[in-house]
Amino acid sequence: MKERVFSGIQPTGTPHLGNYLGAIAQWEKLQKTHDCHFCLVDLHAITMPWEAETLRENILQSAACLLACGIEPGKLYVQSSLHAHARLGWLFNCVVRLGWLNRMTQFKDKAGKNREKHSAGLYTYPSLMAADILTFKATRIPVGDDQRQHIELANDIAQKFNHDLGKEYKEKTGRDFFPTIEALIPAQAARVMSLRDGTKKMSKSDPSDQSRILLTDSADLIATKIKKAKTDPHPIPETVAELTERPEAKNLLSLYTVLDKDGSLEKTLNAFSGKGFGDFKSALADLMVEKLAPISNKTNELLSDKEELRKTLKLGAEEARKVAEPIVSEAEALAGLGF
Ligand code: AQP
Repeated sequence: MKERVFSGIQPTGTPHLGNYLGAIAQWEKLQKTHDCHFCLVDLHAITMPWEAETLRENILQSAACLLACGIEPGKLYVQSSLHAHARLGWLFNCVVRLGWLNRMTQFKDKAGKNREKHSAGLYTYPSLMAADILTFKATRIPVGDDQRQHIELANDIAQKFNHDLGKEYKEKTGRDFFPTIEALIPAQAARVMSLRDGTKKMSKSDPSDQSRILLTDSADLIATKIKKAKTDPHPIPETVAELTERPEAKNLLSLYTVLDKDGSLEKTLNAFSGKGFGDFKSALADLMVEKLAPISNKTNELLSDKEELRKTLKLGAEEARKVAEPIVSEAEALAGLGF
């Protein structure tokens, strides 16, 4: 039996380089060896203010982009088309403890000082995310570093469910109902930072377009964004240790390293140390264009046939449903639901 992989992305805009390097590139590799289900998590996207029409467009745009990155048809679907997510999400809202949710840093970061004005959905986001994963009993979750805490919480929820409601199941089968989950966080580029502020992660929701490279950006736009990317007045150093207090420089050099085949940060520093950022930035932009131009072209091609895209997403939902429905129905039965 192949190990099962699940991961998702919010259709809150076109995926960016951080999404690609942190998550999508791993998805593309794992689908060759694992049983994979990838999801456009629209139920998560509506935890922040949204417009229906924009959401619809973003779903198709994100789908085209992911398929252009090499995600296979049949493995990608839209979260709200599979009701199992919301059903298990509600059950988990009744398993998760308020104290656990209170510790989630993503809620604190997003809600800031205005907690009272945010949706309850933003607060319970992590229990829906746990449900997304456990709807499939997935054990391997390829994500960026920002999701580490959410994966830990998903394990806590799974354990509490197993303990409170899964005793009989364990006696009968010798196994826990929900498995232990492992986050697969890439060794490089696990947290790609904003091009405007090296202490903030690159994100679709950052108000500045200049802070991120979208997978559909043109060569000119990539060159402009990289040229304008924040750096510091010092030359590129010789050693990795000298990058410690230079987050913007470290981010750009790390991006070059991960895009360069067989790259290492030492190798990148060897090639550019002592130079200013001008030459380095144009080499970095060239490398990005080489990697992203085929994705951008393919995305546009796929977007020209939206009906076909919708069919592909339906196919992915059918495949996902076959796995998810029996698991969620059994979880509901263990909880005394589904009369
Ligand atoms: N900067 C990043 N570096 C590495 N991985 C990242 N991921 C996100 N940003 C980075 C990973 O991409 C997957 C999808 O995450 P997401 O849809 O939450 O992406 P986002 O760009 O963070 O989206 P938003 O809408 O702007 O959300 P917030 O406001 O939360 O940042 C995940 O595996 C994630 O780890």
